[in-house]
Amino acid sequence: MDTRILHITPENQIDLIREAAMTLKIGGLVAFPTETVYGIGANALDASIVRKIYEAKGRPSDNPLIVHIGHAQEVEKYVTEIPEIARPLMEAFWPGPLTMIFKKNQVIPYEITGGLDTVAIRVPAHPLAREIIRQTGLPIAAPSANISGKPSPTIAAHVIEDLKGRIDMIVDGGDANIGLESTVLDLTSEPAVILRPGGVTKAMIEAIVGPVVLDPRDLGLSVDDIPKAPGMKYKHYAPKGRLVIYYGSKEKAIEAMNDSVQKSLSNHEKVGIIATNEDREAYNCPTILTIGSEHDAHEIASNLFKVLRQMDDLGIEKILTQAFHEKEIGVATMNRLLKAANNEQRFV
Ligand code: TXA
Ligand code: MG
Repeated sequence: MDTRILHITPENQIDLIREAAMTLKIGGLVAFPTETVYGIGANALDASIVRKIYEAKGRPSDNPLIVHIGHAQEVEKYVTEIPEIARPLMEAFWPGPLTMIFKKNQVIPYEITGGLDTVAIRVPAHPLAREIIRQTGLPIAAPSANISGKPSPTIAAHVIEDLKGRIDMIVDGGDANIGLESTVLDLTSEPAVILRPGGVTKAMIEAIVGPVVLDPRDLGLSVDDIPKAPGMKYKHYAPKGRLVIYYGSKEKAIEAMNDSVQKSLSNHEKVGIIATNEDREAYNCPTILTIGSEHDAHEIASNLFKVLRQMDDLGIEKILTQAFHEKEIGVATMNRLLKAANNEQRFV
């Protein structure tokens, strides 16, 4: 398949947005930026088109997709009920990086929901995403625009690398600024459960609607039989190299990581370190990629997937990083990092 790549500029954006919306309307797959990560959009109402998304991503068909809509009022077209806590959350966080799970109605095909009776919905805040969706007049299914299992794409080059030749169009609209996927909040249980942490934090949600819980399965506290968010059971966000996370005081972690680098080098293993700006100088390693300031949780979140992909591009076989502060979006960063590391941790 020929993939058209549209580079958006202020001069051409009106025409290109129209083209992207038209391609979606006639059944095409179109990747576009959102404020979280790039997504692959498709008409969510057509089961046969939705199946093409799973094919393009190489994604298991029991892992459900998020339906993206232009306005909060449209939710009622796709769900059987809107729980009381939904409205204040929509008001506070839509458009934005919060996905909410509702009981679906018959308009939503089971191909979207991986056979579940629930549907995940969000209103993205990125102006390009919103305008493209608005012009289609359709609900748009949009999973992250990566090959299943790889880190999510935060720039168009990542999408091109994974999906060129597999989808109809890629809209290059610059960086997806948050860099981690939306928070997924399940409103079908009480209290509501955060199935995936993201830019809208637990504290932000609780400030509006009171207590919610973090899915214990996702935190690795218990290994349950069937995960609530089917996506959670699959390998995720993984770089090709083996990733190891170090916990402990800075000094001890740096010392242990430098020791590990020496061991790797004597085994002719290509090793890389993910460093904060503050720690960079303390490491002794041929490849050091900086992820941002330790004082800026948003900068670290926005660079995580980019850095993991850069390690792949450099052919790094072993990647070492310290754990990051788990405050605000840092919870989501550590959630993705632990998955990328397949939970491989060192406590020093
Ligand atoms: O930020 C985002 O949400 C991005 C951008 C493109 O909007 N999209 C995204 O989609 O991350 P995806 O498909 O990569 O992740 C969707 C997550 C998966 O973990 C999936 O299992 C969960 O949402 N999910 C979707 N529908 C669900 C449902 N009905 N019940 C439970 N989990 C659901
Ligand atoms: Mg994804």
